[in-house]
Amino acid sequence: MSGHSTYVPKTALGKWFEARLPVVRLLHDTAVSYPTPRNLNALWTFGGILAMMLVVQIVTGIVLAMHYAADSTVAFRSVESIMRDVNWGWLIRYLHANGASMFFIAVYVHIFRGLYYGSYKPPREILWILGVIIYLLMMAAAFMGYVLPWGQMSFWGATVITNFFTALPIVGQPIQTLLIGGFSVDNATLNRFFSLHYLLPFLIAGVVVLHVWALHVVGQNNPLGIDVKSDKDTVPFTPYATSKDLMWIVLFMIFYGWFVFYQPNFLGHPDNYIEANPLATPAHIVPEWYFLPFYAILRAIDFNLGPIDSKLGGVLAMFGAIAVLAFLPWLDTSKVRSGRFRPIFKVAFWLFGLNALFLGFLGSVKTDDIIMGFQAVVWAKLSTLYYFLYFLVILPVLGYIEKPKPLPVSINDAILAKSAPSSVH
Ligand code: HEM
Repeated sequence: MSGHSTYVPKTALGKWFEARLPVVRLLHDTAVSYPTPRNLNALWTFGGILAMMLVVQIVTGIVLAMHYAADSTVAFRSVESIMRDVNWGWLIRYLHANGASMFFIAVYVHIFRGLYYGSYKPPREILWILGVIIYLLMMAAAFMGYVLPWGQMSFWGATVITNFFTALPIVGQPIQTLLIGGFSVDNATLNRFFSLHYLLPFLIAGVVVLHVWALHVVGQNNPLGIDVKSDKDTVPFTPYATSKDLMWIVLFMIFYGWFVFYQPNFLGHPDNYIEANPLATPAHIVPEWYFLPFYAILRAIDFNLGPIDSKLGGVLAMFGAIAVLAFLPWLDTSKVRSGRFRPIFKVAFWLFGLNALFLGFLGSVKTDDIIMGFQAVVWAKLSTLYYFLYFLVILPVLGYIEKPKPLPVSINDAILAKSAPSSVH
């Protein structure tokens, strides 16, 4: 852990325990005395919000599993019985289903915070890559969870997504067969998805431990993006960061509660209240909202590129859109971390954010729908192009051509300059 341990056991029992298992010291150094940059803004509370959401998902998921039946003949009915017959079952289910969406909202804020303030830059590369692994695991967990109620979108979503694998030459077909446990999505698919859906959150929790460990080794970044230089730049984690985290967790819970109690099905799809029917394909198969930008990228590639047909091209583009994140620490060549001091980066970043939202919208419409005079797929191609340009061209080049604004000498200096009466200057 970064910083020097200040923990001193006060009681005889404390000392005895400390000599045998210094877990209290570990907790104290991590969550009490840990030096936190004093200028962190509310965006730095989302790591804590994510940790809280992971616990909520695991606890509600375990209770749901007590009543859920992973058998394709009864799965749909077992979910309806949770909603109607199990005491508080409706609440547990809505907390879990909406919890998945809240988890993704929080993770997107967390990721975009990192993108803006350059939190992926040295020395935080491993911390960032562990984050990308968590994100991938979250996507796998959410996808498999959505299959469990065995509604129409569960079934057809699973069919479409697992079919992606067949685009890969030679290994594709065997991988797909292994994944779904046969030649089409069926009871075997449901069983293995349930098993993996139960497992993945614990795997995520394990990677989160590594993520937070890595964070505590290198220390937190901050809105100025400059390194901590002295004790004046930091405050102890408790009470400062703990109380701020707690306040934002409560605000986030209110937002979450609003969905659970007032709009519990707003983020879902009505077709999932129709039981899975392998003989009736829904008119419009759409994934959950948090996958929509990637779905738009997948569908944008509707042309062959030499030996790569459109299907493989789409799958490669979609996975590439996530994989590129892992290389970001080396793609962004600027020495300055925080976007605050990078005038051109700022414009490219906000465009990237808007573009990501637009991709999400494009993922929700039909490819031949007309949007502002053009087919949605044309827009999807342009947006996909900007998505990749941002990472592969703009960020690498900007580091060389952009002239950043001057950085403050230290975090403490910047804070004093901001709070000093204007007559001093
Ligand atoms: C279950 C999901 C996750 C949990 C529980 C989690 C937890 C945390 C916590 C507690 C912090 C410190 C507080 C903060 O800076 O907000 C943190 C920091 C960080 N996380 Fe995550 N995280 C998760 C997912 C991710 C993902 C998906 C990424 C990126 C792809 C990521 C990248 C980072 C980075 C770069 C930092 C350091 C930020 C800084 O100091 O500026 N995390 N995370």
